[in-house]
Amino acid sequence: MSRVAYVNGRYVPHGDASVHVEDRGYQFADGVYEVVLVHNGRLVDEGPHLDRLDRSLSELSIKQPMSRLALQAIMREVVRRNRVRTGLIYMQVTRGVARRDHAFPKDATPALVITCKRIYQPKPEAIEKGVSVITIDDIRWARCDIKSVGLLPNVLGKQAAREKGAFEAWQIDAEGNVTEGTSSNSWIVTHDDELVTRPAANDILNGITRQTILKLAEDRGLTFKERPFSLAEAKSAREAFVSSATAFVMPVTQIDDAVLGNGQAGSFTMGLRDAYFDYMADAAPL
Ligand code: PDD
Repeated sequence: MSRVAYVNGRYVPHGDASVHVEDRGYQFADGVYEVVLVHNGRLVDEGPHLDRLDRSLSELSIKQPMSRLALQAIMREVVRRNRVRTGLIYMQVTRGVARRDHAFPKDATPALVITCKRIYQPKPEAIEKGVSVITIDDIRWARCDIKSVGLLPNVLGKQAAREKGAFEAWQIDAEGNVTEGTSSNSWIVTHDDELVTRPAANDILNGITRQTILKLAEDRGLTFKERPFSLAEAKSAREAFVSSATAFVMPVTQIDDAVLGNGQAGSFTMGLRDAYFDYMADAAPL
């Protein structure tokens, strides 16, 4: 079945979907994006994702391309036309098309692209085994809270991970603390069974999955703290995992050369992963 994309007011075959050469997203990375999970025909955390899109746009003074209701209708139509039951919606808004000049154009119309693709879950054995992460210096800008399409450091970091057979690269700040992965948030579980993740500030993206996990931890009476943690602490932690709309809760069993615990996914992480699946099952149907 051929895929369909929404591009600036039109549904077009994915292979023909294109934007203008002077789109500011293309020339300056002057745009933002969101990735929303579709799980068994349900949109997971749609409201929080759209809130974060609004925030990213407003931080960059990019106009809303349309009302939230209109956007939601298009998201659903893209999912429907692509016949996706479990997959991802990718939505991108740029400042629009204008003659190249760094300063904002006076009258550009924001450009909106929405695509959707299927995703497949890893096998349970792969989850049990967990994934490995490498570590790299965090060389990004000071506004990582904005979900900008400017992702070159993330691209280079993920590529370095792939080349070493790792799932993700954890970025390390000047103090030796873990900020986050290149496309996921980072978590550890201490030997006292405390769940730890870095506080949301300008130096990380405040993941929607991250926020949901914190709520699930609270509901379940788990001990958790939002505080910075060092790479050394992570390497000697009981458990670790990453979170994102695409990885959910993914156990990490190796950080660089350090194997965590017995090298298998830990029970704390797997409990949270199960809780997250229960949460997704309760999401509103499309
Ligand atoms: N990435 N940190 C970064 C740098 C990210 O790019 C992402 C998500 C996250 C997790 O956010 P959320 O839980 O809202 O997905 C954290 C998406 C999935 C991507 O770029 O494809």
